[in-house]
Amino acid sequence: MIDIRKHFSIFDARPGLVYLDSGATALKPTSVIDAVSGYYRDLSANVGRGLYATAEETTARFEAIRERTARFLNVRADEIIFTRSTTEGINLLAYILEGRIEPGDNIVVTALEHHSNFLPWKRLAKRCGAELRVVPFEENGSIRPDTARSFVDSRTKIFAFSAISNVFGTPNDVSTIVRTAKALNPDILTVVDAAQAIGHTAVDVRELDCDFLAFSGHKMFGPTGVGILYGKSTLLAALPPYQVGGGMVFDSMADDPTYMDAPHRFEAGTPDIAAVLGLGSAITFIESIGIDRIHAHEVGLATRAVAKLRETFDDTLRILGPTDERESGIVSFTLDGIHPHDIAAILGERDVCIRAGEHCAAPLHRALSLPATARISFSVYNTKADIDRLIEKLWEVKVMFT
Ligand SMILES: Cc1ncc(COP(=O)(O)O)c(C=O)c1O
Repeated sequence: MIDIRKHFSIFDARPGLVYLDSGATALKPTSVIDAVSGYYRDLSANVGRGLYATAEETTARFEAIRERTARFLNVRADEIIFTRSTTEGINLLAYILEGRIEPGDNIVVTALEHHSNFLPWKRLAKRCGAELRVVPFEENGSIRPDTARSFVDSRTKIFAFSAISNVFGTPNDVSTIVRTAKALNPDILTVVDAAQAIGHTAVDVRELDCDFLAFSGHKMFGPTGVGILYGKSTLLAALPPYQVGGGMVFDSMADDPTYMDAPHRFEAGTPDIAAVLGLGSAITFIESIGIDRIHAHEVGLATRAVAKLRETFDDTLRILGPTDERESGIVSFTLDGIHPHDIAAILGERDVCIRAGEHCAAPLHRALSLPATARISFSVYNTKADIDRLIEKLWEVKVMFT
């Protein structure tokens, strides 16, 4: 996908850059950068308030992106809540669900989770006197599709899990997990952290049939500062607001203020309008390439990288998850005798950007008894030449430590 790189002006400014950290955040295409700056240049008005031309146009464009996002996910526009990020979406949800959890209930999460989909539930369980149940993962980095059978019972209120682990890169069978959990307990609420799935693989939320789903714009070529929380309209209709303030209330003077319907009830205050407009451009960018093409490209590179890493580093290398065909663009590994932080720091000095540490997934690393791992993650702008450069520079690191 060499021609795709021309959409990323950062490669003009930094021609030697090998960016293998798209799992942390994706680079931004020029169209997204233009959408953000275009808002400040041409509109700069607030949404849902003013009655003059730029204000009305800003509101119309903002709401059009809600509809765009809903089509992208195959859901309804009133089921799309604009948040700041995956983290904010899941914290918002944990906050508004508090009234539904009683002492003796339980909340199920998995040991694969990013802290964003672990800590809000851990805190909620503690606050409500509920039990937090942590589902272990399989060797390939996914949870068993029928895992609910061992963890869900009549007191389970929430089952929260990720679509793709940010460390293993292995997808979970979301629709089967949801179906199995609902069959055991129809009242359970299923929450999917799709931070590493959206923009990398097709996500049809209606088909997954989860109750809630969260992701961040910045991991799918959009700007930082915008995320999405999807919620089934029937559920959102019965949930209380999160923050209260402007843009979400009908009668603030009543003893019990009356609030707007979803999604506006959950969007108090001025949103990051420029970021939302940028998110719209990110969706256009993804659709112009095609999600299946993006997926195939990333999986192809990850599979190739694993083969090359194994060929070069042999039994001093440990790959997390499958060592043949990969199912996403994420690959985590360790090299005997070299701390992942040293690997990442030395590669960084050579303009090869990877991530090292626990990747905000302490339960996963604890389960594997690993203090840290090194992670590479591919996107549309990566090439086979990036893998060659990674291997070359990684070999230099190995030589330094032997
Ligand atoms: C699986 C997963 N969930 C949640 C997050 C948190 O995303 P954000 O920091 O954008 O809220 C990340 C970020 O790396 C992630 O990989």
